[in-house]
Amino acid sequence: SIPSIAVIGSLNVDLVTRTPRIPAGGETLASKSFNIGFGGKGANQAVACARLSRTKVQAAQHAETDVAVQMVGAVGTDTFADDFLTSLKEDGLDVSLVEKVGGLNTGVAVILVEEDTGENRILISPGANEAIRPQGLLPKGAGVAVFQLEIPKDVVFATMAEAKKKGTIIILNPAPAIPLPKEVFHGLHHLIVNESEAAILSHRSPDQINPDADLSAIAGEFIDAGVGHVIITLGSHGVFFQTATKHQQRTVGTLIPAEPVPVVDTTAAGDTFVGAYAVSVARASHGPNPAKFDIASAVAFANRAASITVQRPGAQSAIPWLDEVSMVQ
Ligand code: RIB
Ligand code: NA
Repeated sequence: SIPSIAVIGSLNVDLVTRTPRIPAGGETLASKSFNIGFGGKGANQAVACARLSRTKVQAAQHAETDVAVQMVGAVGTDTFADDFLTSLKEDGLDVSLVEKVGGLNTGVAVILVEEDTGENRILISPGANEAIRPQGLLPKGAGVAVFQLEIPKDVVFATMAEAKKKGTIIILNPAPAIPLPKEVFHGLHHLIVNESEAAILSHRSPDQINPDADLSAIAGEFIDAGVGHVIITLGSHGVFFQTATKHQQRTVGTLIPAEPVPVVDTTAAGDTFVGAYAVSVARASHGPNPAKFDIASAVAFANRAASITVQRPGAQSAIPWLDEVSMVQ
């Protein structure tokens, strides 16, 4: 068998406009460009898992891969749905657990990207994503299960509980963030949050999450609640990570800087990070004598992959393949 990852989450069609600035209330503004692309945090992360475990040439030749990636979610029965699934299959994903829900639209995300900063603002119409039901979502034999919060929370929590019972390694990227019950963190192997998600989950204000803050104390709270590895991404300030000891004690965390790059569009950068990280987790946990998971190199690899995504427009259109990510640390 080969390492396998299941991503349980959303699929959205992204309607992206680039604008010189965000229009004020009642104002009409002409945008610089408009594009339709495939996105959704779940699908983006699944695509990132697939691309970051094979080279572009391997993907184009549909060559055998050494990591299996399965997308679990729902689309509608509109014209977007089939194109979306075709695109995911092109990326080598197993989409047999993507349900087609009659009478609903495929999820849509309206995204405004500011020209100068590449920063985005996203408005979601969940459509079929909201219709996902909790039963039978965890594929048999999945080694790693990856979750976000763009599908109903009860579905996420129920499937996480099932994964815990089965001994599946769980990665949670609680985006978009809401305060979560403490039980969610108990037995959670990997928690990946950005600044604003860290703030919401730790009941702090966003300005309290920065490279100069005591991030060890914040990550430590998640570790106390039962998380094994905590990763806080800080955009251009890099990534902080901290791992619990064997006995679920806090350790001291590490901050690794980000390479400064020209930012075009930050959409799906976080998703690329999660997917790349998941590939490292899946590889390290597979086989009879799994190698020890090296979080520092997993974070560094994910960081380099995400830094490519911010330099390209769109979501899935921006996610790199393995050979595009420099292997030099
Ligand atoms: O994380 C980026 C994604 O968030 C976009 O692709 C959009 O669909 C929203 O879900
Ligand atoms: Na992008």
